[in-house]
Amino acid sequence: QNERDSQFILSDWAKSHYHRLLLNSEEGMSIGYGYLKERGLNLSTIQTFELGYSLDSWDDLMKAAEGAGFEKKYLEKTGLIVTKTDEQGRDTGRRYDRFRGRVMFPIHNISGRVVGFGARTLKRDDKMAKYLNSPESDIYHKSDVLYGLFQARQAIRTEEVCYLVEGYLDVLSLYQGGIKNVVASSGTSLTEGQIRLIKRYSDNVTVLYDGDAAGIKASLRGTDLLLEGGLNVRVVLFPDGDDPDSYIRKVGDQRFADYIEKNSQDFISFKTTLVAREASNDPVKKAEAIRDVLNSIARVPDAIKRQVFLQQTSTTFNIDEQVIITEYNKLVKNAS
Ligand code: CTP
Ligand code: MN
Ligand code: MN
Ligand code: MN
Ligand code: MN
Repeated sequence: QNERDSQFILSDWAKSHYHRLLLNSEEGMSIGYGYLKERGLNLSTIQTFELGYSLDSWDDLMKAAEGAGFEKKYLEKTGLIVTKTDEQGRDTGRRYDRFRGRVMFPIHNISGRVVGFGARTLKRDDKMAKYLNSPESDIYHKSDVLYGLFQARQAIRTEEVCYLVEGYLDVLSLYQGGIKNVVASSGTSLTEGQIRLIKRYSDNVTVLYDGDAAGIKASLRGTDLLLEGGLNVRVVLFPDGDDPDSYIRKVGDQRFADYIEKNSQDFISFKTTLVAREASNDPVKKAEAIRDVLNSIARVPDAIKRQVFLQQTSTTFNIDEQVIITEYNKLVKNAS
């Protein structure tokens, strides 16, 4: 327990250090703050999410932390510094800051304590990973955290829906644009732990994934888990090449809100239409597509909702409802 406390205290300190550098150092202000301003984020958003900047240095954080009395052991455990090992995996004794020259996004748990960081490079250089994230630690379990949930949780309750996006910048832009009930899965596919977190605040999720093929695939895959969790799932697709952040920047807050309102569709209906269109009139593909949809429907815990979805499937594919229901029952029986 003491171990974890020390890691919490260090993470909180590091957050303040990076935040101070963003707003009060020459490098942080010109490079880090300049970048965030260019991306349309204002000071209030930066403060609310406690964004920061890590200096382009191998040991700024390590030196400052040691100066403040933190043991190296905790810097290693939280992943704030990297231990260099040789090919055999032996410690070479070399230590350096993990995050260098990046905009820092502290990741809060639902009590508001910092458990880790996401960090975006500002270089256009391809071989540099766009985002670096803290590794798992005693206090950071990636599968149990949603970025933005600490700031969003009240709004999710009152709005009675949680918007789910892919990235840090999507959360920040939407929040700043007045859509405060937004969280990010941070690029990874959703986990059961994250779904349980959402369920504490609302039964309704609207997925706003990137408008590229990968984003659509991700929404199809991750969404079956949401259904199993008993959530009502809707999806909004964006024009190809846009993500929620780029889209709200392009059209403005009001038109963005209108777009979501007009374009959100029930997930099962969306999936049904999508796979039906892909199968067109090829009988083999059509049968496959129907089974795919029935598989999703089987995950919905509510029997009445299942019934409605089965009716819809029958209509969309233009197949007799009795046939659909027989097929559905077969599938459920085989699965159990
Ligand atoms: N991500 C990551 N590591 C990467 C790429 C992405 O952890 N190498 C995660 C980040 O949480 C990121 C999210 O996946 O926010 C979505 O990725 P992407 O759409 O590529 O980035 P954006 O959030 O849109 O960031 P930006 O607009 O700055 O390009
Ligand atoms: Mn865990
Ligand atoms: Mn993407
Ligand atoms: Mn994106
Ligand atoms: Mn983006």
